Amino acid sequence: MLAFTTACTGGTVQGRPGASGLRDPFFPKAGNAGYDVRHYGLDLVYRPDSGRLDGTAVITARAGQGLSSFNLDLVGLDVEDVTVQGEGARYNRTGQELTVRPAEDLKKGEEFRTVVRYSGKPKAVEDPDGSEEGWIRTGDGAVGVGEPTGSMAWFPGNHHPSDKAAYDITLSVPKGYEAVSNGLLASRADRDGQTVFRWHSAEPMASYLATAAVGPYKISTGTTASGIPVYNAVVPGQAAKSADALARIPEIVEWGSGRFGPYPFAAAGAIVEDEGTLGYALETQTRPVYPGAPTVDLVLHEMAHQWFGNSVSPKSWKDMWLNEGFATYAEWLWSEDHGGPTAQERFTAFEEGDTDVDPAADSDWAEFPPASPPGPERISADPVYYRGAMVLHRIRQEVGDEKFFALVRGWAAEHRHGNANTADFTAYAQAKTGHDLDEVWEVWLYGKGRPST
Ligand code: TRP
Ligand code: ZN
Repeated sequence: MLAFTTACTGGTVQGRPGASGLRDPFFPKAGNAGYDVRHYGLDLVYRPDSGRLDGTAVITARAGQGLSSFNLDLVGLDVEDVTVQGEGARYNRTGQELTVRPAEDLKKGEEFRTVVRYSGKPKAVEDPDGSEEGWIRTGDGAVGVGEPTGSMAWFPGNHHPSDKAAYDITLSVPKGYEAVSNGLLASRADRDGQTVFRWHSAEPMASYLATAAVGPYKISTGTTASGIPVYNAVVPGQAAKSADALARIPEIVEWGSGRFGPYPFAAAGAIVEDEGTLGYALETQTRPVYPGAPTVDLVLHEMAHQWFGNSVSPKSWKDMWLNEGFATYAEWLWSEDHGGPTAQERFTAFEEGDTDVDPAADSDWAEFPPASPPGPERISADPVYYRGAMVLHRIRQEVGDEKFFALVRGWAAEHRHGNANTADFTAYAQAKTGHDLDEVWEVWLYGKGRPST
């Protein structure tokens, strides 16, 4: 008895609740502390006619502390049953928090399995900036998109980019529908009037980059020169208009590998929805989602995110410029490499507002510094993209091409399949190039007001 009490006070037996958020500066309730998800096994049965989803989420995680309870994020939907390590667990829900109390406390370092059975009609949710994400019903199907916090509308999890995990997503849909997700298609089988698609993502993925798309897609496949399989799913009405841009995916993957280093994932592709179903494209991992037939530049942008955003992911939603600044700068580089305006010409065009060179040049790119958006409603605003790209170009001006491209490749390699923030970037850039870049950080990255060269 005495020994047991000692163990308790020593903290080796008793757990405490895991915190219900990760204190993200813009989304403080997103994600949960106390554990680290290793793998999501999602088994989703979807009926496009009714919009009903029956889901089982098997979440394998490692406890980072002794846990008497822990939280998952989930909005909407009904939870039917939760088990932890095979035993029934108590749970309750408040807002986006699903609090799970395992029958027995979890020990620090323990790997544990949580199974959540849930169902209902998943919903679209509105972002702080007014855009829609979550579960979007399309003409004859649906698509799940999750930047920044919409994935909690279709599966329970640790919904913050700092907790990346491997995924196996199984989608069962009525025969006649296609079902597409991230990664490699491991199998496809017809069973009792349903088609079951099993998608496998071995590399770590932030939950906002997970997707599940159900529809009457036309499927086309291919392979890049270095052997990456390409799988495209396009709604019939956009197929002809999409063909040329999607045919460039292998070339884009090769070009990116040359500029940024090896492509980080085992698969590539695209999901093209009808125009008007989504207000934006999203760089869902390996297989971006497009709102209608994309241009080559848009495909380039979303594929550039596979290196910048998906492999090197932000530590918090304040670090979005590391995603969007790099993806935008990738467009400038692609243009430079393909006979269009050079990055320097684009940079000048933004300084001068010359929309002949770039139609976005007269945007309010100087409104706020990219490293500090004024709030969650501005994380996808113009300065994050364009002034973010200008920061990268300012570095290039300071250090020259050789050091700049070594920096870009080094950055992608240093944090491959990891997370990084702005401070990590500025420290890395200075160390890697050997240049004092304080002026760039102070004026272009953090400075208020309109910078000029
Ligand atoms: N990250 C996407 C891209 O740049 C764009 C995006 C996703 C977005 N969600 C958004 C833009 C919400 C505005 C609002 O490709
Ligand atoms: Zn982007």
